[in-house]
Formats: sequence, structure tokens, C-alpha cells
Amino acid sequence: MDDSQMISEVADALADASRVVALTGAGMSAESGVPTFRDTLTGLWGRYDPQRLATPQAFAADPSLVFGWYLTRVRAVLSVEPHVGYDALTRLERHMPEFTVVTQNVDGLHQRAGARKVVELHGSLVGFRCFDQGHPYGFEHIEELARDPSLGERVAPPACHVCGSPVRPGVVWYGEALPATATAQAWSAVGEAEVVLVIGTSALVYPAAELPMAAKRNGAMVVEINPDQTPFTPSADVSWRGRAGELLPRLADAVIGAEVS
Ligand code: OAD
Repeated sequence: MDDSQMISEVADALADASRVVALTGAGMSAESGVPTFRDTLTGLWGRYDPQRLATPQAFAADPSLVFGWYLTRVRAVLSVEPHVGYDALTRLERHMPEFTVVTQNVDGLHQRAGARKVVELHGSLVGFRCFDQGHPYGFEHIEELARDPSLGERVAPPACHVCGSPVRPGVVWYGEALPATATAQAWSAVGEAEVVLVIGTSALVYPAAELPMAAKRNGAMVVEINPDQTPFTPSADVSWRGRAGELLPRLADAVIGAEVS
């Protein structure tokens, strides 16, 4: 099947569907220039294993090191923009009765592109909270720190305004459970979906690896968008080799028609 046949097959399925899920992973962010987890491990952090930075134990042992590393990630996210593939998903969301983005990414780019229904399986880099009790901590303070050129690589985390405990990023660390509400929302959205788009994920990490298979068992049409093969490729109904930023706008145009925005 060539590209235009795939577009019309998937566009027809989307046009007939009332419940759709887009499951997104690091490849979606990478196309906007967000460094992947491993790419970020340069400079001081090049000496560390991610498993030694992204754990509650690492934060407790050396809060300034871990907090400084996450400020670098915040800085990187603030310096990029969501690409046209994000806009395409937002256009589909506005067009469809029920459209849910389920993402493994923590950078908030879907929301910045206007998406309203986003389930964040691995938490959020723009939602800091305190380590001991989870009191939320305003992102404006974090942004101020991230933009402060006088700060070095190690930065002591600020104290929670309520209880004084150190502030940590709201991402899921190794060894931590996924957020229960997000996980339940993801399973329910996938369980009901008639079409699931699997975009920019290697389909290796649980539960993102399980969700497309569950969709298939429920009879959904599952479409993979990825320049490379993944372990899920043989099970996909349509496997589309290409970049999200190229294919998603074409798909949205085919479903909605080229809109003048
Ligand atoms: P991976 O880095 O494992 O996979 C990214 C996928 O995106 C690969 O299959 C690429 O081929 C594909 N890709 C690259 N560029 C693309 C593009 N322009 N358009 C479409 N696809 C593209 O990322 P994830 O599957 O998201 O977890 O798994 C990463 C997760 O594992 C992270 O969320 C992190 C890590 O452990 C936690 O931090 C809990």
C-alpha cells in the first residue's frame, strides 16, 4: 500500500469513528527538538546512569544534582515549540466527538499545541511538587530558576511553601508507580477506542507496550506512525513508516479538509 492509499484508509476509519486515541512517545517530542532522556546526559550528568538520577533515592541522596539536571530538562523544553504534528492532533481532537491523547512524554507539548484531553502516563515536567507530601509548587518559580543564567549545573531545590520539604519534578521516577488516575484513564480510553494511533514510541516500556495490544484485542484499528520498525509493527493494522510531523498533518487534512487557520 502506498502513502496515499494509507492516508485514505486511515482517514476513512477516523471519519467513521467516534472514539479515537493517539498514543505518543519520545519520537514525537524528539521531532520538536526535545532531547531524549539519554541525550540530556551531557556535561556533568554524562558521568551518571539515568537510573542513578531519576529515582527517589538519588534525589534524597543528592537533591542539588538531581534538581539541577531536571532544570536543564525544563530549559530544553522551554526552548522548543510543538511541531505541526501536534497541531494536526489538536485539529483532530476538535473535529472528533471523543479524542484522547495518551502520552509517555512529560514535556507538556500537546497542551502547548492546544490539546485539551491529555493523559500523562509518566507525569509532567511542568508540574513540580514537594518530595514529602506532594504539595504542588508553582511552575512560574521553576521557570524563573530555569531562566537564571547565574545558576550552575547543581541547584539546591527550593523548599515547599507549605511544609518546607524539597521540591521535585512531577515525573514518574524509576521504581515509582505510574499515576493511578492516568493509568485508569488510559486503559479506559483505549478500551473504548475504535481507532488507535501509535506515534513515536518504541512500544517497549509498560504500559505503553500493552495498550496497543489491548486495543487490538478490543477490535480497534491500530495504526503505527514511526520511521522505524518496532516490536509492535507486525501486529499493527496499518504500519506507516515516516515522521509524525510529516504524516499527521496530511492525515488531519484528509479527515477535516485543509483548513485556513
Ligand atoms: P523511545 O525512545 O523508546 O522510542 C522512540 C520511538 O520514536 C522510536 O521507535 C523511534 O523510531 C520513533 N521516532 C523517532 N522520530 C520520530 C518521528 N519524527 N516521528 C515518529 N516516530 C519517531 O521512546 P518511548 O517509546 O516513548 O520512561 O519510551 C520512552 C520511555 O522510556 C520514557 O517515557 C521513559 C523511558 O524509560 C520514563 O521516564 C518512566
